[in-house]
Amino acid sequence: MAHRWTNTLTQQDITPYSAFLNRRQVMAGLAAGAGLAGVAGTAQAAESALEPNTLEDISQYNNYYEFGTGKNDPAANAHMLTTAPWTVTIAGMVDRPGDYSMASIMKAMTIEERIYRFRCVEAWSMVIPWNGFELADLLTMAGVQSGARYVAFETAFRPDEMPGVRYPVLDWPYVEGLRLDEAMNPLTIMATGIYGKPIPNQNGAPMRLVVPWKYGFKSIKSIVRITLTDSEPPTSWNKANPREYGFYSNVNPEVSHPRWSQSSERAIGGGLFAKRQPTLMFNGYEQEVAQLYEGMDLKAQF
Ligand code: MTE
Repeated sequence: MAHRWTNTLTQQDITPYSAFLNRRQVMAGLAAGAGLAGVAGTAQAAESALEPNTLEDISQYNNYYEFGTGKNDPAANAHMLTTAPWTVTIAGMVDRPGDYSMASIMKAMTIEERIYRFRCVEAWSMVIPWNGFELADLLTMAGVQSGARYVAFETAFRPDEMPGVRYPVLDWPYVEGLRLDEAMNPLTIMATGIYGKPIPNQNGAPMRLVVPWKYGFKSIKSIVRITLTDSEPPTSWNKANPREYGFYSNVNPEVSHPRWSQSSERAIGGGLFAKRQPTLMFNGYEQEVAQLYEGMDLKAQF
């Protein structure tokens, strides 16, 4: 990537929105001039056309049911979550299982900026400038064993800090999973920041998954546990309604949700009268990820 910085973000790393946009333009110019190739280059070139949403859009319109099911509930309630100190347990089929402090993870990982489309299964979308690191780097640090085929993730469960878990909307804690090759794909990141600032609690502080070619519910927030396994792990929305939410949940305009079409989306921030925009196959990341699903029937394995 053209822009990298390491370790914990400090006050100096905060980029005002206007300066941020300027830097994007510079980066777009660099990418075009250098003729970058490969996955990172392709993603970078695709990124240059994206206009990120404002921090207000990104942090005031959320899904984080542990803090309530309304779109403003997470922004109103997530300040109750204690995010430091924070420990992530890495377990299962790894050479170095253990409890990793968030501070030690931030020290070991290289934080970079990724501007990604984000598409919720509810058919709204945003463009989000994440800061984070590749999940592959964290898994490599833990040492993935050869028999591992899936990665399971778990969100914190803190009834004292999470008013929403009083309600049985989902079977808490929130859990998610990926196939190992999906987890190791360079597009899959752990986000720890947005716009160069620490990630707001309502967006999944201190560390949340981002899998940009899948519906947003796969991008599990405030992770406390990562387990490498040899079998497909259970996932919250699939357990709640297996007919509507599959394990894969790849963005696919041709496969409708049983109750609505997925062929178009409402871009948040576009205003009440904005035209819906067409949803792209794999949310626009087809070149980077289509090969992961070769030979699979995407209608049957949705
Ligand atoms: N993770 C947890 N733990 N709890 C949730 O309710 N909601 C998911 C996902 N991750 C959710 C979660 C859904 S449905 C979406 S669309 C995204 O988070 C929303 O992310 P955002 O609020 O940062 O846009």
